[in-house]
Amino acid sequence: MGHIMASATPPDQVSAASQHTVHVWHDDQETVITVPHGEILRRALLQANITPYGSVSKQVNCGGRGVCATCGVRFMKGEPAPVNWHDKLAARYGYPRLSCQITVTQDITIRIITDKIMWGQRDEAARYQSEQTG
Ligand code: FES
Repeated sequence: MGHIMASATPPDQVSAASQHTVHVWHDDQETVITVPHGEILRRALLQANITPYGSVSKQVNCGGRGVCATCGVRFMKGEPAPVNWHDKLAARYGYPRLSCQITVTQDITIRIITDKIMWGQRDEAARYQSEQTG
């Protein structure tokens, strides 16, 4: 298990209450990232040298604008309600959640999809169950 600080702020200037722990599972390996409250998940992953993209979308994506749907990750724990229209659709229909549209506000555990080429597979069981999906 590796532990990475995904923050531009020096650790001694960030209080413990303003940070969250992100457990990232990829290739049967766990990396633990400490991120500041309010950080965008995609940015935290990329800062930790963990890509949410597949082999093709790593080169061609929307850069975090929430329109290409290639930055999807699976939540194992702490899944937040979707707010972006595209992420709401992903959550409702069981597609991976868009990491560029996830603001980290609590400790979470996610899984990187390592076998996706572009978007990732739909998974009915992974549908976000909430009234908030609209
Ligand atoms: S990077 Fe395009 S939707 Fe997230």
